[in-house]
Amino acid sequence: MIARMQDILNHAYENRYAVGAFNCYSYETAKAVARVAEKLNTPAIIAFGAKYLDNMEFNEIHAVVSALLENHDVPIALHLDHCSKVEDVYRAINAGFTSVMYDGSHLPFEENVANTKRVVEVAHSVGVSVEAELGSIATGLDSHEGEVGALTKYTDPDKAREFVERTGVDCLAVSIGTVHGHYKGEPNIRLDILKEINEKVGIPLVLHGGSGTPEDKIRGSIDNGIAKINVNTEISSYTIEKTREFLKDNNPHLSVLYLRQQEYMMEVIERYMKLFKND
Ligand code: 13P
Repeated sequence: MIARMQDILNHAYENRYAVGAFNCYSYETAKAVARVAEKLNTPAIIAFGAKYLDNMEFNEIHAVVSALLENHDVPIALHLDHCSKVEDVYRAINAGFTSVMYDGSHLPFEENVANTKRVVEVAHSVGVSVEAELGSIATGLDSHEGEVGALTKYTDPDKAREFVERTGVDCLAVSIGTVHGHYKGEPNIRLDILKEINEKVGIPLVLHGGSGTPEDKIRGSIDNGIAKINVNTEISSYTIEKTREFLKDNNPHLSVLYLRQQEYMMEVIERYMKLFKND
């Protein structure tokens, strides 16, 4: 069933687990998320990144996802991931997305506050949740997100408190050393900074760059306020690798290949969903 992201995240935050937000690019990806969520009986977030919308319109995504969620009995939110254009955020809200991420992290602090506040006012007037970002998440290998070569700028805990108070966002994406894409070397994930942010902010926090993040850091981040974890790169890279292997020995009909790929995506999603449940 289609659900409000805030309801899902508040429950996760209070009960110390995280909800996986899986980037989707097609019907097959969204279906893969819903099937695993139902299998594990856990809430989830179907996230469409503003960067991956060349082949679909917001209203088409909403129609497809809301119809498919009628067939799955777990709460799942439909989220717009990383959108830096306020007009596109409004288009997603109009189309029926249940939450949006306005990403003004590249802007000066005051501009990020002003834009985020505007988005929150509009979104909340129609019951849509808002995620925003403070700090800057580096770009690792194989990522299609963020700026190429972007470096980590850790979130300042005092600024985070001010940002949340002034904007009224529902959840905040923080930069603590995870990267979008695969890590180039040993990740330097600062749970100490996260702990301080969580103490000052008191709302569900969001970890971007889930792919390849060590399990102990995932668990440590959930213990310190992370209630939503985004996963993208690994869904794509694993599925492509497995597709290559499969096509070496097979010459399938396209419909068969799509089903296969859904199974590959489900393997990745299931692994992360189990980890995020924090049982
Ligand atoms: P990864 O590609 O590293 O999994 O990050 C996903 C993400 O943060 C989407 O916003």
